[in-house]
Amino acid sequence: MNNSKLKMNYSDINFNNKTILITGGAGFIGSNLAFYFQDNYPNSNIVIFDCFRSEEVLLNGNLLSFGHYKNLIGFRGNIICGNINNENDLSLLNDYKFDYIFHQAAISDTRLYDQKLIMKTNVNSFYDLLKIAKKDNAIMIYASSAAVYGNLSSPQTVGTENPENPYGYSKYMMDKIACNYAIKNPSMLIVGLRFFNVYGPKEFYKAKTSSMVVQLGHQILDGKPPSLFKNSDKILRDFIYIDDVVQANIKACKSKNKPNHEIYNVGTGISRSFQDISDILQKELSTNLGNKYISNPYSGYQMNTQAEITKTNENLGFVPNFSLESGINSYINEIKRLHLEKNQ
Ligand SMILES: NC(=O)c1ccc[n+]([C@@H]2O[C@H](COP(=O)([O-])OP(=O)(O)OC[C@H]3O[C@@H](n4cnc5c(N)ncnc54)[C@H](O)[C@@H]3O)[C@@H](O)[C@H]2O)c1
Repeated sequence: MNNSKLKMNYSDINFNNKTILITGGAGFIGSNLAFYFQDNYPNSNIVIFDCFRSEEVLLNGNLLSFGHYKNLIGFRGNIICGNINNENDLSLLNDYKFDYIFHQAAISDTRLYDQKLIMKTNVNSFYDLLKIAKKDNAIMIYASSAAVYGNLSSPQTVGTENPENPYGYSKYMMDKIACNYAIKNPSMLIVGLRFFNVYGPKEFYKAKTSSMVVQLGHQILDGKPPSLFKNSDKILRDFIYIDDVVQANIKACKSKNKPNHEIYNVGTGISRSFQDISDILQKELSTNLGNKYISNPYSGYQMNTQAEITKTNENLGFVPNFSLESGINSYINEIKRLHLEKNQ
């Protein structure tokens, strides 16, 4: 894949000569951030900290971590393979003084129910990373999630949370920790971004936890009718293209608001259906395969997510550039390339 993107400055901050830590940088969002900085600020000093994937499988059959070296082919910065839960590994970061920390590393699997493992990985490590941010006087931008809202009705708004799974709870706890830490450390800037359903290049190695855009795309390229839950025209999500998520991360570095900790929704502000994804993909791929409709095995399944993004827009100047149609259109060649690679 050609990792280079057109030069796109989302902010007047000059990240050249800045030292930037990206935890989870071998994963989907982290690797996109890494290439954003590399392409737009070639003199930035980018450090990726990620445990990468091992063969370790969780109780639900998914891998413990999804980081993949293929997401980083062409990356010229520094890479540290380490576990955010391991103090010795984290001590390798002492060689640097960071200006910015983008904390993406986490168990990102929303369907894992091992509470102890999720809380240890996502929550405990956050204290250590905040300590590093404090020591280095670094701006901390961390990944929260729309999962904090559980089944609350749309649009989801910061301030009303009701997580329905351990993953969502862990992100909610990170938000609380960040808030308390910011109160005790008023000179710090700590910004939480609640990503909604992100899709785009470099998500492929998340396998079954990747977006339905790439999963349905590959079913269509296999010549099969894309498989959807019954009533998928009424199951709605706020799908956001990866470039807009990168935009939000960059803009969060210059949060105009006070106090020094804020949480923002990062979505398009518009909910679309899983049926829409299937229809747009079939149009892009010039197919007419219909759909295979299956029963939804999940109880308590979210029927509608839609980010309330007024504050994200007002305080960060965030304006999503991609609709579901234009996001899929930008992504389709990569979906085809991955499908070819998979079948070689
Ligand atoms: N993709 C989405 O739709 C979405 C939505 C909401 C929130 N988020 C959050 O955004 C962040 C990035 O998500 P993503 O989609 O890129 O997921 P991802 O799984 O591709 O990336 C997470 C990365 O963290 C690494 N990691 C996991 N455990 C680690 C550990 N103990 N030590 C070091 N590294 C570890 C993994 O190897 C992986 O590279 C996560 O915090 C996730 O919870 C993502």
